[in-house]
Amino acid sequence: MSERRVLINLRGLLTPDPKQAWAVDRIPAAALALEGGRVTWLGAEADLPAAWADAPRVDGGGAWATPGFVDPHTHLLFGGNRSGEFNRRLHGVSYQQIAAEGGGIRETVRATRAASVAELVDLGEARLRAFRERGVVHLEAKTGYGLELEAESRLTAAYAELRRRGWSLDVTLLPAHDLAPEFGGDAEANARAVAEDWLPELVRRHPGVARFCDVFVETGVYSAEQGRRICQAGQALGLIPRIHADELSWTGGAELAAELRAASADHLMFCSAAGMKAMAAADVTPVLLPGTTLFLGMRDWAPARQMIEAGCRVALATDFNPGSCPCVDPLTILRLGCLQLRLTFEEAFTAMTLHAARSLRHPDLGHLHPGARADVLLWDVEELLELVYWVGEPYRPRFLPA
Ligand code: NIG
Ligand code: FE
Repeated sequence: MSERRVLINLRGLLTPDPKQAWAVDRIPAAALALEGGRVTWLGAEADLPAAWADAPRVDGGGAWATPGFVDPHTHLLFGGNRSGEFNRRLHGVSYQQIAAEGGGIRETVRATRAASVAELVDLGEARLRAFRERGVVHLEAKTGYGLELEAESRLTAAYAELRRRGWSLDVTLLPAHDLAPEFGGDAEANARAVAEDWLPELVRRHPGVARFCDVFVETGVYSAEQGRRICQAGQALGLIPRIHADELSWTGGAELAAELRAASADHLMFCSAAGMKAMAAADVTPVLLPGTTLFLGMRDWAPARQMIEAGCRVALATDFNPGSCPCVDPLTILRLGCLQLRLTFEEAFTAMTLHAARSLRHPDLGHLHPGARADVLLWDVEELLELVYWVGEPYRPRFLPA
């Protein structure tokens, strides 16, 4: 990967500008100079510096080049699926009602607890390949379908193995994804077990694997106060919080994320105006998951425009999981970002690249300015806007040869 090469013959190149919140460079007839797996120069092919005259060429075939997508919120590893429950929901039973009956997340927990590390790794690889062929070059992946120490530990071990195999992913510990059946609804005791026993033990057993911790702050799950204690326990272990916040009702999750200087607050369909301001001031990235709103049949789209007006750098993600969004397709999310969250194409693209990477603290992902990882996607379309416009078209990007 150390060789120098120049990507030429591009119809154009589109990349967010990492020095600005929402600026996008659109360069017709572009070229991209690469060295050591990194971008070193971008511009119009006609302006390529003389120093690159002799470098080997890679023919872009007249495609549009963009940075790869970054997905900052997935529940990548779980056993089974919930297609049976899905049909019940289509027939009027609510997500919360199914959960109250012991289904929902708990059903996935039963299937995940029964899976070995090797089975989880196989599932993970197949899903990572599916993300990759759709243009996702890096993603965040949560534990959370174990809900007890040993199963959470197997999930963490499976993520460690996927990283060892070369997959580009950040791991988030989410043993507080729901109330564990063993605690009989005692959220307080469950939160204590997560904060005092499970998180420290997971970090001790799997040093250096997880960068983030997460908690589902929601009515009937963990309160903001319990979420605070779980996140603070994670912070004491060197983990950076991300929070499932204000998804089904307002619970002060965005405000909590700001108070803790979390990397992100995610979902936010019921975020308050004060929460938006607080996130902007504390540099918390709102990670919006419109696929979940769609799949849950809700109409409460997260107020993305208001967040941008409040000064937030909004990111978009799939929320890939078996219950509320079994979707690995970044184009579906890009389309929902434009069509339902009312983002412009450039904003939605920036939210799925630069700001997604920012929420994961990766300054070298999500753009193609000098220093960026050379994760370039090549799209065979006349105009990039077609990726959204031809709704349902299963575009697949091409990648640079290794
Ligand atoms: O992000 N909110 C909690 N977790 C998931 C849903 C999990 C499930 O239904 O399996 C989410 O929407
Ligand atoms: Fe989620």
